[in-house]
Amino acid sequence: MSEQLQTDPNTGRLAFEGADLHSLAEQFGTPLYVYSAEAVRQAYLGYAQACEGLAEVTIHYAIKANSNIHLLKLLASLGAGFDLVSAGELARVLAAGGNPAKAVFAGVGKSVADIEYALKAGVGCFNVESAAEMVRLGEVAQRLQIKANVSVRVNPDVDAKTHPYISTGLKENKFGVSMAVAPSVYAHAQAHPWLNVHGIDCHIGSQLTDPSPYFDALDRVLGLVDQLSAQGIQIDHLDLGGGIGIRYRDENPPKPADVLPQLIARVRQWAQAKGRPMPTLAFEPGRSIVGNAGVLLTRVEFLKNNEDKHFAIVDAAMNDLMRPAMYESFHAIVPVAPNPTATAQDYDIVGPVCESGDWLGRNRTLSIAQGDVLAILSAGAYGLTMASNYNSRGRAAEVLIEQGKARLVRRRETIEDLLAPELGL
Ligand code: LLP
Repeated sequence: MSEQLQTDPNTGRLAFEGADLHSLAEQFGTPLYVYSAEAVRQAYLGYAQACEGLAEVTIHYAIKANSNIHLLKLLASLGAGFDLVSAGELARVLAAGGNPAKAVFAGVGKSVADIEYALKAGVGCFNVESAAEMVRLGEVAQRLQIKANVSVRVNPDVDAKTHPYISTGLKENKFGVSMAVAPSVYAHAQAHPWLNVHGIDCHIGSQLTDPSPYFDALDRVLGLVDQLSAQGIQIDHLDLGGGIGIRYRDENPPKPADVLPQLIARVRQWAQAKGRPMPTLAFEPGRSIVGNAGVLLTRVEFLKNNEDKHFAIVDAAMNDLMRPAMYESFHAIVPVAPNPTATAQDYDIVGPVCESGDWLGRNRTLSIAQGDVLAILSAGAYGLTMASNYNSRGRAAEVLIEQGKARLVRRRETIEDLLAPELGL
């Protein structure tokens, strides 16, 4: 977790950026996502400072990790651009006052409506993921008479050595265009009057703890840029995606400062060797900006034993935090205040949803009682953005801490919110 999460040495209570988490649970109710603005700022600056003075680099925050408008506003104020994958995410950038010209639009299935919306909003670049998409983009751009900047997302076929569901740079993954096909996709763009070849991009996966696949991917991308250059297609912008991991338990992911300067140096070396201008660069981090800047607070509803098995049934569930159910991922779970009368026990922490897969943590030794509040750590990324209304549960509220002050940044969904799309039709 971020260093903003601290245990008070006298009371043993947990505070996030100075705000007492138990008090926040009382004030705003549970389940509750709580974010530290300072933790987000520090994580963003880790990227910005790692590149400072080395090259012209834009950090496009990957909105899918956490799309709260107030966090986007904070990131935009720090100078971030955005990586988005839907019209909805673009609408969030606009609502946050972000600059659409500093946004890139990725995703394998952009609809005509998505493309129209993004062109009219003035999105900076489309990261195109197939030959068919490039054709569609050209048609829509021509019809609207708005020129589209394009980049081809290439699939470098490198193993990111991460969970198979979040590995994206292998040829068996649906993402990107193969190295072999990319030149023809570029040729289409180059010949099209309403498409402007802007760059090349790749993203090989998420929660990477070993930086070596980045270097392999970069080498392949540079090889392709050379090949394109020989075909008269000039690429002066490289977007190397996101993917740097965070510590959930005992992982030791690299920091941006351990990876970015070396990647930039490699590009510079290549550019000098080829006598080319230094390309501009972009990265698309999501998880490493917000993951450890958020916790999910949940209250113990009941403790229950089935024979030898002990369950803590809490008020958050897989619909609030999908990651354990979906990837069997680990999130540390800790009480926000010590309970001196409770005895330690091994619990599975489970939610109220009617699925055996609805668990948040397994075999956790905790001293807890009914009514206690727990913090599920490292929940700032892919938490609320992956939440659903399964079992007709409203999605959780979100609070942002800024210098110890808590502000509601998303209200809890009500029963009325849940029913509204189906009533009065
Ligand atoms: N750029 C592209 C094109 C992406 O597909 C992704 C993530 C990112 C950037 C940001 O990657 P990050 O820096 O956050 O690793 N729901 C999963 C993660 C899915 C990631 C999808 N793409 C999870 O909870 O682990």
